[in-house]
Amino acid sequence: WVLTVTAQTPTNIAVIKYWGKRDEDLILPINDSISVTLDPDHLCTTTSVAVSPAFTHDRMWLNGKEVSLSGGRYQNCLRELRSRASDVEDEEKGIKITKKDWEKLHVHVVSYNNFPTAAGLASSAAGLACLVFSLAKLMNVKEDHSKLSAIARQGSGSACRSLYGGFVKWIMGKEENGSDSIAVQLADEKHWDDLVIIIAVVSSRQKETSSTSGMRDTVETSMLIKHRAKEVVPKRIIQMEEAIKNRDFPAFARLTCADSNQFHAVCLDTLPPIFYMNDTSHRQEPFFNSSFINVIVPHFYLPIISCVEKWNRHEETPQVAYTFDAGPNAVLISHNRKAAALLLQRLLFYFPPQSDTDLNSYVIGDKTI
Ligand code: DP6
Repeated sequence: WVLTVTAQTPTNIAVIKYWGKRDEDLILPINDSISVTLDPDHLCTTTSVAVSPAFTHDRMWLNGKEVSLSGGRYQNCLRELRSRASDVEDEEKGIKITKKDWEKLHVHVVSYNNFPTAAGLASSAAGLACLVFSLAKLMNVKEDHSKLSAIARQGSGSACRSLYGGFVKWIMGKEENGSDSIAVQLADEKHWDDLVIIIAVVSSRQKETSSTSGMRDTVETSMLIKHRAKEVVPKRIIQMEEAIKNRDFPAFARLTCADSNQFHAVCLDTLPPIFYMNDTSHRQEPFFNSSFINVIVPHFYLPIISCVEKWNRHEETPQVAYTFDAGPNAVLISHNRKAAALLLQRLLFYFPPQSDTDLNSYVIGDKTI
C-alpha cells in the first residue's frame, strides 16, 4: 500500500527582513521579521508526500530532479515530525500505522515550484513550509500552526512565516532551544484585501550568494547589522504592526522601502560585499526628472527603485512600495487595483517584456491564501 498527502503553500515576502542568525543549527534569528503571504495561485510550492512499507529510504524530487534529503536541515525537520507522529488508520485501504511504525517507515517527497527556484523569490520559504505541512498531515502530527512553524523554521528561517496567510510576524524568541522562536499571524488575508502585489521578474537566474552564507558573512563582518538588529528593527516592527492594523498605506510603504534599502545596505557592508540587486533594480537614472508619463527612456536604463520613488513623490500619498529580497526581482505592493493597473501599465511601457534580458515576466498576486 501507499498513503499520500498533497499540499500547496504560497511563498511570503518580508516587509521587515530577517537577516542574520544567532544559532545556525536551530535557525534562530537576530531580529523579528514581518511578511505578507502571497496568493497561492501565483507563487507556490505543491508537494506530495507518500509513505509505503516498500520504500527503503527517504527520497525527494524537486522540480523533477532527485535531490538529497541528507542535509541537516531536512533531517532536523524529519526528526521533529517523526517524534510527534501519531497513529494513522485508513479503513478503506486497510492501512494501520502506529506511532512506533513511523520510526522505521520511509517517505518519498515530490515537490514543484511554479516560479524560479533560488532566484530570490523565497522559494525555500514555500518549499520547506509545504514539506513540513504535508508531512505533518501524513504523519497525523497534532500540533498547531505555531508549533509547526517552529519545525519549518529549522528547514529555512523564512519558511516559518508561510504557514499562515495574511500578515505574519516571526518572533525571534529568547530561549536557547528555540522553543519561543515561532511565527504568529498579525492579520488574516481579508484584513487588507485591496493591496495588490506585483512581482517583476528581473532575472530568473539562480542568485550567486545564498541567503544562508550571505547572512553568515554579514553577521561575522558587518558593524551595520548590529545597529540594525538592536536599534532599527525593534522600532520598525512596532511601527509596521501599527501600520498594518490601521491599514495605513503611507506608513506601510515608507517602512517597507526603508527596510529593503537597509537590508541591501547591510549586504554592501558585508565583507566581501554582497550585491543582490542588478542594474534594472536600482541604477540611478539621471535624466528621468519629469512626470512618468512624458519621459521615454530605453527600458533597460530605468531603475525600478527610482521609478517608484519618483512616482510616490509626484502623488499626494505613496501609491506603491517596493521590496527586494536576496535577488534582483522587484516586489511591488500597490495601494489598490487602480494603482496596480497604472503601475503595471508603466512597467510594461518602460520595461517591455524581453525574451532573455531585463524584465521578462510579471506575476500579479493578491495577498491571500
Ligand atoms: C532576504 O530563510 O532563505 O528573504 O534561514 O538560511 O534558509 P535560511 O535563509 P532564508 O532567508 C531569507 C532572507 C530574506 C529576508 C526574509 O525573508 O525575511
